Amino acid sequence: MTSPWWRGAVFYEVYVRSFADSNDDGVGDLPGITSRLDYLKRLGVDAVWLTPFYPSPQKDHGYDVADYYDVNPEYGTLADFDQLIASAHELRLKVLCDLVPNHTSNQHPWFQAALSSPDDPHRDFYHFADGKPDGSPPNNWRSAFGGPAWTRDERSGQWYLHLFATEQPDLNWWNPEVPAEFERIVRFWLDRGADGYRIDVASALFKRRDLADVPMVKDPLSGMVRPDPAFLIIDQPQVHEVYRRWRQILNEFQPQRVLVGEIFDANRQSRYILPDQLNMAFALISVPWDAHVWRHSIDTDMHALRGPGVAPSWTLSNHDVVRHVTRLGGGFKGRERARAALLLLLGLPGQVFLYQGEELGLEEVDVPPEARQDPLYIHTQGHHAGRDGCRVPMPWKRGEPNAGFSLAAPWLPMPPGWDQFAVTAEEASATSMLSFYKRALAVRRRFSPWLPPSIAWRPAPQGVLTYQRERLTVACNFLSHPVSIPACGRLVLASAPLATVRDGRLTLPANSAAWLDSAAVP
Ligand code: NOJ
Repeated sequence: MTSPWWRGAVFYEVYVRSFADSNDDGVGDLPGITSRLDYLKRLGVDAVWLTPFYPSPQKDHGYDVADYYDVNPEYGTLADFDQLIASAHELRLKVLCDLVPNHTSNQHPWFQAALSSPDDPHRDFYHFADGKPDGSPPNNWRSAFGGPAWTRDERSGQWYLHLFATEQPDLNWWNPEVPAEFERIVRFWLDRGADGYRIDVASALFKRRDLADVPMVKDPLSGMVRPDPAFLIIDQPQVHEVYRRWRQILNEFQPQRVLVGEIFDANRQSRYILPDQLNMAFALISVPWDAHVWRHSIDTDMHALRGPGVAPSWTLSNHDVVRHVTRLGGGFKGRERARAALLLLLGLPGQVFLYQGEELGLEEVDVPPEARQDPLYIHTQGHHAGRDGCRVPMPWKRGEPNAGFSLAAPWLPMPPGWDQFAVTAEEASATSMLSFYKRALAVRRRFSPWLPPSIAWRPAPQGVLTYQRERLTVACNFLSHPVSIPACGRLVLASAPLATVRDGRLTLPANSAAWLDSAAVP
């Protein structure tokens, strides 16, 4: 039996608003993406995940959907979507859409109808509840964007639930009409050729029915009183039935369609990643640059998803976190480590998710306060720096206005010198991050289909990690000075030019990694 196309595949996250702007209005769009598919093909990815492109007031940049069946006019039309799919498939690239089932925009007709009267049939599409007798919200739940998870509807005096921004009311999945609506939505984009979905906050759909307060408990370490982390608001068992239904729908389509859940908690994933539910969830490695900590993080994800046909989906960055070059120390050091980190993860069994611009070595941008747009920044009044810094548009062309992204001012400003990372500049250099990514993905493609789905850690000095996956040995030096370790095999890939294998020893410069192929030993 051949492996399904997604197993071991490399996915590329396109943040639609910031990828490529075809009509020079300062925001990315679907025709822009279509015009750049050949770039993604040359990079060597298998599939593209598009962040939400549906009509939306953009209060959370598309994660507040006002119509699940159309394209935001800023981004194009349904015909543009069809064209994108057709062009991608011609290039043998798969395309995933982003499904946002936990909440809608407050501008969605369902919510507008719900607001119109407590007796409206759509009222029960959402969670409306009476406040407490003292006038406070129905319970003490907090929004992920700061403040209470409830906003008062002045007209009726009731409160509605939103785990994210006020403008993102949560849907009531206990109402059978909500799952029924989403089954139609799931079919709609599959019928148009989508190859699957990334599911936003996939474990959150059902909230605990009693809407009980989260108990406050004393933290044993700090002695501070805080909400009990063991008290579950979300992750209710009924969500699995929804994914079983969706899986049945996906099974009607050929070739296989996929479901990728936005679930980061490794312990939770094994309940979702099952043959009759989701295919994948993210293993985001976002820990300090320390061999011991990385090994622990990798082991945790490998352990959570083991068994036939399941493996982690390794991720270093996405549109919600600080870019990893910056997390890993920034500047030259951050880029050295980012290269090494890529090799460490590319050798592992499982899928890999890249975030647009990481192949250029982009860093987090310090967006000026007046230009920031992220609700996380706005709702926390700047206490949280927000996520704009990882969403600054892609630099395409060196020496052109706005680095070739747009003739109009981009929706988020680019910092000075952004075009030094432009695709044209990096394509012209054999030592650029982009050339390195291409090389690494090409070598992985030659290896990974033949490698078993398990690894064995090998003894290594402090600060160094080495694992073996049959004929492949991967070694990574986390230290800030070179190391020399016993090794056998031919050097097939290295993150630093000075890595060498000689006389049975591998020399790894500071912050670097290498791949050795023992099958190539004479
Ligand atoms: C996760 C998305 O990745 C993030 O960007 C969004 O703000 C929240 N879900 C709410 O939809």
